[in-house]
Amino acid sequence: MARKNLTFHLAERPKGNIVPGKTFNLVETDAPTASDLKDGQILVENIYLSLDPAMRTWLYDIRSYVPPVAIGEKMRGGSIARVLATKSAKAKEGEYVYAGSGWTEVAVVGDAEFEPIVLPKGTQITDAIGAAGMTGMTAYFGLTDIGKPKAGETVVVSGAAGATGSVVGQIAKINGARVIGLAGSDDKCKVLTEELGFDVALNYKSPTFAEDFVKATPDYIDVYWDNVGGDILEKALARAATKSRFVMCGSISRYNGLEKESPGIRNLFVVVTQRVRMEGFIVTDFRDRYPEAKKQLGQWIAEGKLKSKETIVKGGIKVADVAISNLFEGGNTGKLLVEVKPIDQGNENSRSLL
Ligand SMILES: NC(=O)c1ccc[n+]([C@@H]2O[C@H](COP(=O)([O-])OP(=O)(O)OC[C@H]3O[C@@H](n4cnc5c(N)ncnc54)[C@H](OP(=O)(O)O)[C@@H]3O)[C@@H](O)[C@H]2O)c1
Repeated sequence: MARKNLTFHLAERPKGNIVPGKTFNLVETDAPTASDLKDGQILVENIYLSLDPAMRTWLYDIRSYVPPVAIGEKMRGGSIARVLATKSAKAKEGEYVYAGSGWTEVAVVGDAEFEPIVLPKGTQITDAIGAAGMTGMTAYFGLTDIGKPKAGETVVVSGAAGATGSVVGQIAKINGARVIGLAGSDDKCKVLTEELGFDVALNYKSPTFAEDFVKATPDYIDVYWDNVGGDILEKALARAATKSRFVMCGSISRYNGLEKESPGIRNLFVVVTQRVRMEGFIVTDFRDRYPEAKKQLGQWIAEGKLKSKETIVKGGIKVADVAISNLFEGGNTGKLLVEVKPIDQGNENSRSLL
């Protein structure tokens, strides 16, 4: 009997939050097979689907860094996938790859859309999508090329307990900086200071956050990592040191309302008075240097200098449209993934064997 395949297609452009069962249609078809492959393609089954805040921004019909997902199109996304069949010299059957295979179970993927996973011993396969993958590389390039923290400088990271922020803070510590993480719960703050080595962690939802933030930054902020935008960015601007660097990585507090005009950012004149450099970037700007980042991040993880955190939602591909709300409600610590298929099912490899 033909294998069945569940796939999410964009049904409508949401206003506000993604609505499970409404924003996307979950469609069942026959799965593609090895006989569908052309030269340079592989057939994969997704194991872990990456859920990313940027996915919400791809649902708007606005000018961005990538074209919007079209109505009726398969939802775009990156996964760790297992190769079921291959007509590509880049991958063998049974290997795991990082693939842009989308919100589906089984897909045909071209040479340009996947990379073999190469990780040192002491890492786990999900690192290829998290701390040594796209979000880890975002932290690596944003810090090494834009933030450039020096030993003794104060680095403040917003969204600090998330996939990108948790790596940013740890790399800043490796560079000898004093690191302050901002996160949305006391439990997340505990993870930052007790597990990940941050010097200070502040809960931005606490009623005393404004005073706590001023007290924690007596020498002002040398590097601010912006994952969230909004009033936290405004507070950080008010504490910017002379010649500080603001690494503009994301603005998640706005992603559910991008169709509305931005309310603006207060305290922007500080950029002039303190000669602040604010620079945005997209990780793909550094595509040519991915091997350098993966190697360094993998090495740090293997040496125990970089700890990878992840939140894995089980239940198969069908839970993806519910699971993504974790990103906007603070439900994840570290990298948010959906387990599309248990990795041990049907093959002898396991995450810990890598
Ligand atoms: N420029 C690039 O190339 C690039 C690449 C990857 C990611 N990014 C950006 O980096 C940011 C983090 O992405 P990620 O994948 O690492 O996700 P993540 O941080 O693992 O997850 C998102 C976190 O954001 C926090 N958050 C949600 N709404 C918020 C709000 N209104 N105010 C403050 N915090 C809020 C939540 O944590 P709390 O519990 O702490 O609220 C949530 O857990 C996003 O803005 C994303 O777009 C940019």
